[in-house]
Amino acid sequence: MTSPRRDRPVERLTKDDAAAELEALAAEIAAHDKAYHQRDAPTISDAEYDTLRRRNDLIEARFRSLVRADSPSKRVGAPPSAGFATVVHSRPMLSLGNAFTEDDIREFLDRIRRFLSLADDAPIEIEAEPKIDGLSVSLRYENGRLKLGATRGDGTTGENITVNLMQIVEIPKTLKGKVPAVVEVRGEVYMTRQDFLALNERQAAAEDKIFANPRNAAAGSLRQLDPAITAERPLRFFAWGWGEISDTVAPTHQGVLKVLAKCGFPTDPGARLCTTLEELLAFWSGTGERRAKLAYDIDGVVYKVNRLDWQERLGQVSRSPRWAIAHKFAAERAETVLKAISIQVGRTGTLTPVAELEPVTVGGVVVTRATLHNEDEIERKDVRVGDTVIVQRAGDVIPQIVGAIDTKRPKNSHPFRFPERCPECGSAAVREEGEVARRCTGGFLCPAQALERLKHFVSRDAFDIEGIGEKHIETFLAEGLISSPADIFLLRDKAEALRGREGWGEKSVEKLFAAIESRRQIALPRVIYALGIRQVGQATARLLAKHYLTFDRWREAMAAAIEPESDAHAELDSIDGIGPSVAGDIAAFFAEPKNRKLLDALAEILTVEDFQAPKGTSAISGKTIVFTGTLEKMSRNEAKARAESLGAVVSGSVSKKTDFVVVGADAGSKAKKAKELGLTVLSEDDWLKMAG
Ligand code: IVH
Repeated sequence: MTSPRRDRPVERLTKDDAAAELEALAAEIAAHDKAYHQRDAPTISDAEYDTLRRRNDLIEARFRSLVRADSPSKRVGAPPSAGFATVVHSRPMLSLGNAFTEDDIREFLDRIRRFLSLADDAPIEIEAEPKIDGLSVSLRYENGRLKLGATRGDGTTGENITVNLMQIVEIPKTLKGKVPAVVEVRGEVYMTRQDFLALNERQAAAEDKIFANPRNAAAGSLRQLDPAITAERPLRFFAWGWGEISDTVAPTHQGVLKVLAKCGFPTDPGARLCTTLEELLAFWSGTGERRAKLAYDIDGVVYKVNRLDWQERLGQVSRSPRWAIAHKFAAERAETVLKAISIQVGRTGTLTPVAELEPVTVGGVVVTRATLHNEDEIERKDVRVGDTVIVQRAGDVIPQIVGAIDTKRPKNSHPFRFPERCPECGSAAVREEGEVARRCTGGFLCPAQALERLKHFVSRDAFDIEGIGEKHIETFLAEGLISSPADIFLLRDKAEALRGREGWGEKSVEKLFAAIESRRQIALPRVIYALGIRQVGQATARLLAKHYLTFDRWREAMAAAIEPESDAHAELDSIDGIGPSVAGDIAAFFAEPKNRKLLDALAEILTVEDFQAPKGTSAISGKTIVFTGTLEKMSRNEAKARAESLGAVVSGSVSKKTDFVVVGADAGSKAKKAKELGLTVLSEDDWLKMAG
């Protein structure tokens, strides 16, 4: 999402503004690169990503002195992830500059003419090719045999995925005819739309990962550590270029691609040779019109100077060649009617509005729903039920609503009122100050959230019920054996339903009951933490327990703190380490009557131990301590428990307020941060001495 600052024209930025924005853009683009290249799971559309990069380029063009060492303009993609061996490309795998308008293309041609000292109207042969939306790879053949296959990675170093690439039928393992001793073929691994949809259906049936678009499906399928999985996926290949090549096989780009086709590589049949700006633009619009009918996704076209001697002279600037450019398409759009806005509740309680649309075809895909992100987005775009809206697919399968067409708005329409109650469970849905999302406060009692909440309740740092894993919670919940945490302690009454299931012999059922029984008596901080109240992690739960000492007093005080102006709220807010935001979340949890009822039920069933202030004074009593890295003589959990029993507060993150940081083997950023902040850093042995 672009922030309002990004809308400010670059000409109006001061140098300070520009520096700050370049810094933010570098971090943001790096994060998107990582999501796209390493996790195959982008969080923004390609069009939004391009906008960020373009903004970065424009600011850099105006403030040359501010170009950062870590500028996105100096990088291609993201460095390779762990898991595959790395390969240094013998020739870097470059990326392409992007063009969006006719002027950009005119400027591209003019620059070439200027660079080569050609006359203003000199014709330049340009090979125009569809730009396939896939994953680029490099295939190295030695004496006609495929020896090495790699991803692009950061352009210099990629991942060795030879075995996976060998699984792709369209990639020749040996080349036909007489070929140079060394030839590195570069091209795109992709998936057709039809194959992608069928794959997602299979994935859904197997409750496996669903891919957002064919590109991600191709990338995810190729970067599998198990090549057998790659072999099952319908991957295809188009060659569009080359890296190292030991002989000259043709004087032009088109000529080399023809040779590659003869060797056995698929090349895109949609490529054309053009000579004028008009021809290029006609190719672009013609390809754009055919786009929806193509079997695979393309996101633009690529123009390449055909003569290889000219390519050589033109060379490259930063991360892209001067002799080539990508002419991108606008996102595919269509008009349709917004029939309704439904609200989905996520597993953590976030309410997300979804546009229910009159079915419409956008870029070859029938769209019936689109995300509206959140409450503010609906207001900002002012989309109303009954409106005719513009729907856009920008590379992703999840389409977006661009906006409503005012002139087609029905007379009696009214702005959408976002619900203040959860549609799943009827609990209050609240929105904290400064947050975009509205959240259901129903917690365990909301069917959309119950699963996650219950898993948390039994987890190791909460009730730690040995014998109940995530799978059990899922089955117990699905079969109606439990619906709230209190039901876990009543499972014994349903013993019959448990016995005789697969994997549940008499012994294991008894073991489970014993594990549950052993947790009926429990420490107060664990109970508070197990409730899964927003922002109440282990450290905060402990602070609360320390302050209120008993379960009853805590519950009473929290019920009184619902009222924001109350003394009880002020007291909660003033506890060192809590503050207004956390206090607000706790109050919202207690404001929901169902949650108070649940706590009453738990109070009946459980024996919650009063908080015991640690005996005596130890060097770490009352201090905040962080453990990082691997401890050798004690597990992390044991160390935490020990520190807590000595009166320390254990935290997960290092800040100025941290007193001690205990550093085990292979500690990473936390140890570094502790040093930077000048905190007391302890080795495992120091810690053991201190802890007695
Ligand atoms: S040429 C130095 N041609 O687009 C030239 N790239 O945005 C490098 N792509 O990394 C690329 N179709 O993954 C070229 N016909 C085509 C292409 C193509 C798709 C991809 C490729 C490249 C990216 C650049």
